[in-house]
Amino acid sequence: MSPKPINVLITGTNRGIGLEMVRQLMEDKGRVKKMFACCRDPNGPKAEALQALANKHPDIITIVAIDVNNLESIKEAAQLIRSQLGGSGLNLLVNNAGIALEGNLQEITTKDMQDSFNTNVLGPMNIIKEFLPLLREAVKASGISGMSCNKAAVINITSMEASMDVTKHSYAEAAIVPFRVSKAALNMLTVCAAEEMKKEKILFCMLHPGWVRTDTGGQWAEIDVKVSVKGMLKVIATMADKHNGLFLDYEGTTLPW
Ligand SMILES: NC(=O)c1ccc[n+]([C@@H]2O[C@H](COP(=O)([O-])OP(=O)(O)OC[C@H]3O[C@@H](n4cnc5c(N)ncnc54)[C@H](OP(=O)(O)O)[C@@H]3O)[C@@H](O)[C@H]2O)c1
Repeated sequence: MSPKPINVLITGTNRGIGLEMVRQLMEDKGRVKKMFACCRDPNGPKAEALQALANKHPDIITIVAIDVNNLESIKEAAQLIRSQLGGSGLNLLVNNAGIALEGNLQEITTKDMQDSFNTNVLGPMNIIKEFLPLLREAVKASGISGMSCNKAAVINITSMEASMDVTKHSYAEAAIVPFRVSKAALNMLTVCAAEEMKKEKILFCMLHPGWVRTDTGGQWAEIDVKVSVKGMLKVIATMADKHNGLFLDYEGTTLPW
């Protein structure tokens, strides 16, 4: 029996990995009941591809304004989404929006690090906190036993470059200190959330998308956005209790801390 259609929220969906996630989830017919595709400027020119996709699926996709650096915009979005869900809750929340500021320790500024923490750590933290009531509603409404994205799951898009072990080998080619440090903090936030929420059966996991050809990954990156997202959606779909708090890549491989 195929699972019930789920309600999904993804941040940073106007381009890159977020946009492709919305696209592939729409291709999986009947998989999604409501898709809240969030971006900073829904009516701006940078959201045209997302608007076109939403026009194709008007009953499923709602484009919602969220700047993850702005708590008020998160709170307003949570209110709007709650009113649209009518008690069925949010099954899958993907904290995808992120920035990747470069530079080694001697080059970076306090502002680089503050901006990175605001977007990559405080953004996901505030999203989790504000949408927790809707994740809890999804647990209640699901009627299924174990943890899964059919019940309530939060996926934080992180990076392999946040790994201490990986950094020892890759730092010389890519310092990207604000990115590494903020994504490592995001990983710790995810593990803390996983521990705190496991009794409520809300799953938390972090996923490295691969080195992907997007504005962030650059044109020389290893994989296409389609491959990355296909892999991540497959991994997300198979997640269960044993995946709670894990650091995985888009192929489901566990990464070292
Ligand atoms: N590509 C890779 O190789 C790679 C590797 C490891 C991890 N990642 C992670 O994957 C995620 C997606 O990255 P991507 O490759 O798709 O990059 P991308 O094409 O540069 O897209 C980044 C997305 O994040 C959004 N964003 C940034 N700051 C935001 C904010 N304050 N509020 C709301 N949205 C914001 C951007 O929106 P705007 O258009 O408004 O700026 C855009 O939609 C990020 O978390 C990134 O760190 C990517």
